[in-house]
Amino acid sequence: MTRTGTGTGLTLAAALLACGAASADPEEGAYRSPEAFGEALFFDVNLSKPRTQACATCHDPGHAFTDPRPTLAGRAVSLGADGQSLGDRNAPTAAYARFSPPFGQRADGTYVGGQFHDGRAAGLAEQAAGPPLNPIEMGLADVDEAAARILENPRYDATLSALY
Ligand code: HEC
Repeated sequence: MTRTGTGTGLTLAAALLACGAASADPEEGAYRSPEAFGEALFFDVNLSKPRTQACATCHDPGHAFTDPRPTLAGRAVSLGADGQSLGDRNAPTAAYARFSPPFGQRADGTYVGGQFHDGRAAGLAEQAAGPPLNPIEMGLADVDEAAARILENPRYDATLSALY
């Protein structure tokens, strides 16, 4: 690489670093983007009744967003937040879920899209509302308890006012 090329590379790297620093999420206060807020929620164990289980517990980013944990039923199913309940199925990867079209039937009769193995949730919003309230998953009592768990976190509270 020529001297000029290296110089250009360094300038570009410096610019990218500066840009990264500027857009990095703050340590406190509102999250800056819906994506950063969503990531925080995805990893938050406080959204489960005993505060032991996050979305990421069953959809582990280190295992392609699937559930690597062994259970009494092997890895056929996922383990609930109480450490005992067994789900009906194991967690599929959640990595590509946003690319699934809405649930529907093609002209040739085949079913496509939707969320979950049986397409029972039409889209991501309906899907994400499921696990926190499922008694054999995260186990919160109702929507009010889910809302209370979110609002108890000052950063989430600030984010809701700032972004929505
Ligand atoms: C207890 C383990 C567990 C937890 C916690 C959990 N999931 Fe899942 N997830 C599953 C299982 C099992 C399925 C498949 C269920 C089915 O098809 O009936 C699933 C399915 C999904 C799907 C559908 C993927 C597809 O292609 O159809 C998405 C998206 C998803 N989960 C996201 C989340 C989010 C977001 C959270 C947190 C709010 C969450 N999950 C919490 C176990 C879990």
